[in-house]
Amino acid sequence: MIKKCLFPAAGYGTRFLPATKAIPKEMLPINSKPLIQYGVEEALEASCDTMAIVTGRGKRAIEDHFDVSYELEHQLKSAKKEHLLRETIDVINNCSFTYIRQKEMKGLGHAILTGQKLIGNEAFGVILADDLCINDSGKNVLAQMAEIYNRFQCSIVAIQEVESSDLDKYGVIDGVCIEDSIYEIKSMIEKPEPKEAPSNLAVIGRYILTPDIFEILKYTMPDKRGEIQITDALNRAAKSTRVLAYKFKGIRYDCGSNEGFIKANVDLYNKMKD
Ligand code: UTP
Repeated sequence: MIKKCLFPAAGYGTRFLPATKAIPKEMLPINSKPLIQYGVEEALEASCDTMAIVTGRGKRAIEDHFDVSYELEHQLKSAKKEHLLRETIDVINNCSFTYIRQKEMKGLGHAILTGQKLIGNEAFGVILADDLCINDSGKNVLAQMAEIYNRFQCSIVAIQEVESSDLDKYGVIDGVCIEDSIYEIKSMIEKPEPKEAPSNLAVIGRYILTPDIFEILKYTMPDKRGEIQITDALNRAAKSTRVLAYKFKGIRYDCGSNEGFIKANVDLYNKMKD
């Protein structure tokens, strides 16, 4: 069973400037609820009890969000509007939050390595809160992956099919299908040119990682932009141990892009109205 979930949340969120100048991208709302709260709720449902958040400068709003707010709660109680914060308070009461700061933004792999002190020597989930995943007809995506982890006890990445013109935005896998929706990864490549891509199966922001990934990340060289990529580390891991890819059930919204963010807001708003 995985008990801890890591949230790399230190990125600059440049695609949402100027909104993200003083507000973390992870606090942008989808239908009034911040993106990171959706992620934390998903991890809770997947039986995690510790949320390990990698933050950076200008991200204190995340810590404040997952903390009590006596004055506001008192005000809401007097106005009989406690329901407005109920979900958030439930989340706060049902798990622990730990934080560490990534001092330099040297990529997702570096952010995950920064989280090692919060995770220790155990397998853990990773949620990129700007990938909002919804599954209306069953378990959420991290819970689906946790089930697979319980069977195979190895690192797992979530994948989806994307258009070949979009492959250069993702890590892309070369894998062998071993059973329905599960692939054993032979290799992975970060942001390939479409003609170099080994498949159209792209990695999205959900992972379960075994702790050996930290040692590999320590020796993973930065790419030409100076970023340490988790894809490069998992590619090395796949050469010596089993790494799986899982085609998840559900919908993923790329809320790190304006288009995905707006689509998520419209879809979830319509769902709430129905
Ligand atoms: P993105 O590639 O979306 O980068 O990071 P970003 O900075 O958040 O957004 P843009 O591209 O500038 O608009 C994917 C995830 O990895 C985290 C981000 O917070 C996001 O959740 N990340 C990225 C870090 O925590 N640290 C980093 O150094 C880079």
